[in-house]
Amino acid sequence: MTVQPKFTVDDQEFAGKRVLVTGGTKGTGEAIVHRLAVAGATVATTARSAAGTLSSKLFVQADVSTLEGAMTVAAAAIDGLGGIDIIVHSVGGSKSPGGGFAALSDQIWQDEFSLNLLAAVRLDRLLIPQMVERGSGSIVHVSSIQRRLPLHESTIAYAAAKAALSTYSKALSKELGPKGIRVNAVAPGWIHTTASEAMVKRLAAHAGSDEETARQGIMDALGGIPIGRPAWPQEVAELIAFLVSDRAAAIHGAEYVIDGGTIPTV
Ligand SMILES: NC(=O)c1ccc[n+]([C@@H]2O[C@H](COP(=O)([O-])OP(=O)(O)OC[C@H]3O[C@@H](n4cnc5c(N)ncnc54)[C@H](OP(=O)(O)O)[C@@H]3O)[C@@H](O)[C@H]2O)c1
Repeated sequence: MTVQPKFTVDDQEFAGKRVLVTGGTKGTGEAIVHRLAVAGATVATTARSAAGTLSSKLFVQADVSTLEGAMTVAAAAIDGLGGIDIIVHSVGGSKSPGGGFAALSDQIWQDEFSLNLLAAVRLDRLLIPQMVERGSGSIVHVSSIQRRLPLHESTIAYAAAKAALSTYSKALSKELGPKGIRVNAVAPGWIHTTASEAMVKRLAAHAGSDEETARQGIMDALGGIPIGRPAWPQEVAELIAFLVSDRAAAIHGAEYVIDGGTIPTV
């Protein structure tokens, strides 16, 4: 892997902006919380487990894959920050077992859709009306390249939920653009998170190989990553910081892929 990147940040760019980042205690979400906070935003975030040291001003412990959890988070964000100007829906992931389509029960399908689609749908429904009243706001939905390049061994339901999230994001943009609210999606490929590094270590231990070989094995399974490495969470956070900023004021209803070239087609 290359060295973790460092970017120059305008520490006033998001001054006065109130941001909600879901799933912000680990991985990509944590990098997004940090990136927006050092740029002056007041950030609220959420996770199921208690948070350690975070750059966010407000932490709400809740399961956003449930309606109750989404309502708790939305109410806490409105009470604690007085409203939300920017939402980054970073929460997501898959817990499906291997074994292809036959291994996925109804419950697993529902769980994957609850976390990867409905968490965003519910929080948007609860928080967008305030944005509409103010006539401004910016929303990013974190999808995945699996919505276009689905893997079948264990993540069919995850890939389908992310496809639904991308479609939902586009539809929402059509309704909200005329009301002053920008909506975009970001579709990452493999990201070098703590969790994905733990997976590399497990695969290396299981195969009796080293971490570099295990990392290459994952890239081979994806059909190769032309830049030769996963993205750093900070690189995904940088893209999102741009998209929610005024620098991207004309970008709306778009989906940005950040995958080092993994998707092989135009
Ligand atoms: N990692 C990748 O290679 C990759 C590739 C493509 C797309 N993505 C997408 O990028 C986003 C971030 O992924 P990541 O891998 O960086 O995440 P991650 O490291 O697994 O972190 C997930 C975060 O969400 C929280 N979380 C998980 N389930 C939750 C729930 N039900 N309610 C509230 N919080 C919850 C976690 O905290 P708790 O566990 O304490 O709840 C944690 O803070 C996801 O949407 C994912 O689908 C990731």
